Amino acid sequence: MKILVLGSGGREHAMAWRLARSPRVQRVVLAPGNGGTRLDAAFEHLALDPVKDQTALADYAEREGVAMTLVGPEAPLAAGVVDYFRSRGLKIFGPTRAAAQLESSKDFAKQFMKRHAIPTAHFETFTDPAAAHAYVDAKGAPIVIKADGLAAGKGVVVATTLPEAHAAIDTMLLDNKFGDAGARVVIEAFLEGEEASFIVMCDGEHAFALATSQDHKRVFDGDKGPNTGGMGAYSPAPVVTPEVHARVMREIIRPVLAGMKAEGMPYTGFLYAGLMINAAGEPRVVEFNCRMGDPETQPIFLRMKGDFSVLLEHAIAGRLDAAERLAEQLWDHRPAVGVVLAAQHYPETPRTGDPISGLPPDAEDAVVFHAGTRLEGGQLLTSGGRVLCATALGANLRDAQQRAYRLVDQIQFEGKQARRDIGWRAVK
Ligand code: AMP
Ligand code: GLY
Repeated sequence: MKILVLGSGGREHAMAWRLARSPRVQRVVLAPGNGGTRLDAAFEHLALDPVKDQTALADYAEREGVAMTLVGPEAPLAAGVVDYFRSRGLKIFGPTRAAAQLESSKDFAKQFMKRHAIPTAHFETFTDPAAAHAYVDAKGAPIVIKADGLAAGKGVVVATTLPEAHAAIDTMLLDNKFGDAGARVVIEAFLEGEEASFIVMCDGEHAFALATSQDHKRVFDGDKGPNTGGMGAYSPAPVVTPEVHARVMREIIRPVLAGMKAEGMPYTGFLYAGLMINAAGEPRVVEFNCRMGDPETQPIFLRMKGDFSVLLEHAIAGRLDAAERLAEQLWDHRPAVGVVLAAQHYPETPRTGDPISGLPPDAEDAVVFHAGTRLEGGQLLTSGGRVLCATALGANLRDAQQRAYRLVDQIQFEGKQARRDIGWRAVK
């Protein structure tokens, strides 16, 4: 079969890489893909944009008999690509535009969780700066200020002091730094605990849990500096014990599926619950994403041993309950670590256009997934903030970490920045 993957990041590279290993998959086509996917003869490419060129993409899928389409990033989902493909009778895995509001509007997600008693931080939504400032004064710090819409993981300020909180409100509501995404802010209570990414595949009715993971959102070692899209990740996340796992399924994932169905927006696609797990093992939702995480996908998919195309088929057919029997055999028990190599001045103003050298050859247990790279005259150049994700399996987490950093150290480009401590919580 032929599978179309929409997107150009490290997440899409990792999913496409895994799919290409399935004996049932003859062709993986990426639209548009990146420099690294273009270096790999296993992939075909379409120079089409998943948000703007949906008609041409659906024409291609129809004409070429694409068996199914997998959507990587949130923007085409929020733009209704799933609704459109379905309207043309094409098989696609992802949430509809309405269901994708769980990510595209933080206010929608918070109100939804309130309606369905799903555990999350207490919050209020504001459009009026004066009311927002007064609320923050009344609540005190620490407190969390979030732009309502999509802001690529950068629209959140965890304010440890009141002046920081006030400044964040002004940036979002007055300076219009995030455009429409910041026209409303959600202000919520600060949650204590350890974060984990809990990602499931959904078919509208059933959920199938993927391996757990933990992301490192801050740009500098020791979880310092501004939030980014993610500087590295590892899988599994030890904080998600079997007990916590069962609670997450019972208290969060199943109520989301039941609630979305009851509200007429059955949830299909990946559902990513960003969790804060406190010392008592109580999981609370920090955010939902309606897609796989990036860079979580890279270590998770390196660990996947089973055939992802089979899972996708079950999901699109509404039969994820039948996939449960695959769960036992699905994962390599070895942990994986993925370290992001970012451009200089990421996340603010990443430098681009630099040649990349020293890329080590891929192996089944160690792969450098590409994100912000492009090919120009056979030369690989940096083209975005997060450039590569060096990902490796290891006998234990420390071993996986060392193997990933061996890859990181071989790769060169001007201004390369990488955290040196990905996985530190789990190693400790
Ligand atoms: P979000 O984009 O909502 O995932 O937020 C980005 C990051 O901010 C999260 O991964 C957390 O590290 C942090 N964060 C968000 N909300 C809270 C909260 N209520 N309490 C503590 N930390 C938070
Ligand atoms: N790594 C966090 C995200 O994909 O949103």
